[in-house]
This record gives sequence, C-alpha cells and structure tokens, in this order.
Amino acid sequence: MNPHRHLQRLHLQSPQASTLAHFYAKTFGMTCHEALGVWFCRHEGREVLVSEGHAGKLHYALFAIQNPAEWDAFKTQTSHLQPASLKAYPELPASALGFCDPDQNCMVFVLASELAQATKTPEQQAPSAAPPAAETQHFALRTQQIEAMKQFYTEGLGFTLSDVVKDDSGQLKACFVRGNDMHHTVALFGAPVTCFDHQSFETPSWEDLKNWADHMGHLRTEIVWGVGRHGPGNDVFFMVRDPDGNLAEISSEIEICSDKRPVGQWRHEERTLNLWGKAIMRS
Ligand SMILES: [Fe+2]
Repeated sequence: MNPHRHLQRLHLQSPQASTLAHFYAKTFGMTCHEALGVWFCRHEGREVLVSEGHAGKLHYALFAIQNPAEWDAFKTQTSHLQPASLKAYPELPASALGFCDPDQNCMVFVLASELAQATKTPEQQAPSAAPPAAETQHFALRTQQIEAMKQFYTEGLGFTLSDVVKDDSGQLKACFVRGNDMHHTVALFGAPVTCFDHQSFETPSWEDLKNWADHMGHLRTEIVWGVGRHGPGNDVFFMVRDPDGNLAEISSEIEICSDKRPVGQWRHEERTLNLWGKAIMRS
C-alpha cells in the first residue's frame, strides 16, 4: 500500500539566508519573516525555511504522516535507526522524529495534526499579485553513494520505489521514491558531488504552469531548464536557479501511482530526464 506522508517544507542552509529567503518569497509568491535567525517563507501549501549555513545543503526536510496508525507503524519501522538531534530547530514539534541519511541529510517526520498546531502563525497578508496555486511536493539530492541512499530511503524509512535509472552496464544512476500516490517525493541522483539538487512545487494544471512561467518572465527570473516533460513521473516542468545555485521547479501532471505499480526502468540518457529535449545531467 502507498504510504500517506507528504513533504511539508524544506529548511535550507545558506551563507546569504536573507537574500535566499527573499528570492523564494518573491519568485514563488510567499510571505517572508525572520525569527531567531530563521527566515520563514510561506503561502498556502508551500513553505521554505532558510537559515545560515553552507550553500547547497539542507538543514532538514520535513514530512507529515497523515494518521496516528501510520505514525505508530513508522515509529516501529524506524526503531532500529539512530534518531538525529533536532534541538537546533525549535520550530519543530517536540514529537518530531529525525534521521540522517548516509550523506547526513536530515529527514524529519511528524504526525500531521501536531504540525498543524506547531505552525499556527498570525494571519499574514498574502503577497500582492499572487501567482497560481502550487504546493511543496518533492525534492532531489545528488549523492556519491546512490545504492546506500536508495536502501536507506526504501528499507530504512519506508518510501516506495517508483522508478530506477541505470546505465548500459546496469549501474544505478538515479531513483525516484514516493511517500504517497504521487510518483516521487524524493529523487536521488548519482553524481560526482554530494549536495541538494532542487525542490519542486506542484501546480494543478498545465495552464497554471504556463501562468507560473509568465510570472517568472514578469519578474525577469530566467527559466534555466524547460519547459519539458520528465520521463520518470511524466510531469511537465520548468526550473529556475536560486542565488545559491540550487534549482527550484514548478511541476504539473505528475503521475499518480497505484499501490501495485511495478517499479519502472529507464535508460541513463538525456531523454529520460526530458522527453522533449535537453536535460541537466547530474552524471
Ligand atoms: Fe523535480
């Protein structure tokens, strides 16, 4: 059965936290405020936090588990893993559970109802001329140890493997895992470097994606990849680049997967990452 966990937020590190936060707020239509050194960028369904640190690194990714029974099962499933200390992140509910992947990216999980309590903030004015709806949906990491990462996210954390990408020798080059019925919640790319790759905001329709592209054009924010259609996930997309060099994506039409969907197999080539043309290859 597909799990029922959804990506809620990314907390990004940055050597220029204020600049990065204001970029996300402006480009992705969120309000932005600072408290105790953390920039909170939020608008309905999407959320990015930024605080000081290294470019291209996460403080954490936060997932909400929808129901208490699944939360209890998750705690049992992960009881053999070493929990990460979350003391540095007072914005998280006390019940949050974090685990570091083999690259030391921190994945945090919380029961959805507790997160709703913890993120209650005073009403904020919506950004003027708000772009269309789009929700925090997935993110991607580059890794130099993709087999260990795949094992951690599937066997360790219980994500479901949707698709794999292999080269002609059979070596794993990328994989896509899901935490709900949408094709991927986390994408892992084999690469010569270990870093954050991108986050994606899912918008309801192709028409909305077009309006997001017009929004970027109005802001003079360059689209650096796309419009295209990914093979794995079949989502139409475009990407921009933030001031730290991270990619950020608007996506739509992502594949909805049944519980019994077999794992898809893709060849390691540009066409896999963009059925319509050029791709940003990570290796
Ligand atoms: Fe993506």
